[in-house]
Amino acid sequence: MKQIIVGNWKMNGLSAEADALVAGLATELATLPTRADVVVCPPFTQLARLGPAVKKAGMALGAQDCHQDKAGAHTGDISAPMLVDLGVEYVILGHSERRGEHHELDETVREKAVAAMAAGLTPIVCVGENADQRASGESEETVGWQIQGSLPQGFRGIVAYEPVWAIGSGTAASQQDIADMAAFIREELVRQFGDAGKTIRILYGGSVNERNVTDILPVEHVDGALVGNASLKAETFVPLVRAAR
Ligand code: G3P
Repeated sequence: MKQIIVGNWKMNGLSAEADALVAGLATELATLPTRADVVVCPPFTQLARLGPAVKKAGMALGAQDCHQDKAGAHTGDISAPMLVDLGVEYVILGHSERRGEHHELDETVREKAVAAMAAGLTPIVCVGENADQRASGESEETVGWQIQGSLPQGFRGIVAYEPVWAIGSGTAASQQDIADMAAFIREELVRQFGDAGKTIRILYGGSVNERNVTDILPVEHVDGALVGNASLKAETFVPLVRAAR
């Protein structure tokens, strides 16, 4: 499976810096002979502006969330069809920052994934244990429940394993921990979806950078990376694309 490198800009990117980042990515990616799929997920406010330049550079546009309803009385929310209307192809769902700050439950994430697929988006559903769950040896159990609860029947999308304790910490999970969890997730996906579970891409996210990426991307069942901080500069993001197969 071709690997995919996804940049999650989170709540970063005013117009001038967003333009400069996409221009920098376009220039550097053009020098790579072959490469993995690349997705950038700017904040909602930049999607419409950046869409044409992102596509011209051979990247795809992603968003960081969507509402589960198509339209209606949901002040401040954005629906999946609205994203498609802007040329968005991917949407991150159930990121731990949304689960934490916006109290999103597995059930909500599942409904959002249904809405995203119905609109034609590829959902990137995030799962991952926090530090306490890890310390008490409940990492697999936690991720197993999240997969069962957050992925709808007929799921066609991507699963991102983001251990909460590794996000923004500067230290990624170890290669062995990533290998163990990726294998566990693959088993769960096959158990839940049969053969289709073999083709669902599994990403690792949590402090991926130029130094550790060469340990992470070759791991079996790891089909790419979901990247926060290192996606905010072309010089830190492009090396990750270069390391992908
Ligand atoms: O979604 C990506 C993310 O949560 C990882 O962030 O900054 O640790 O790469 P970062």
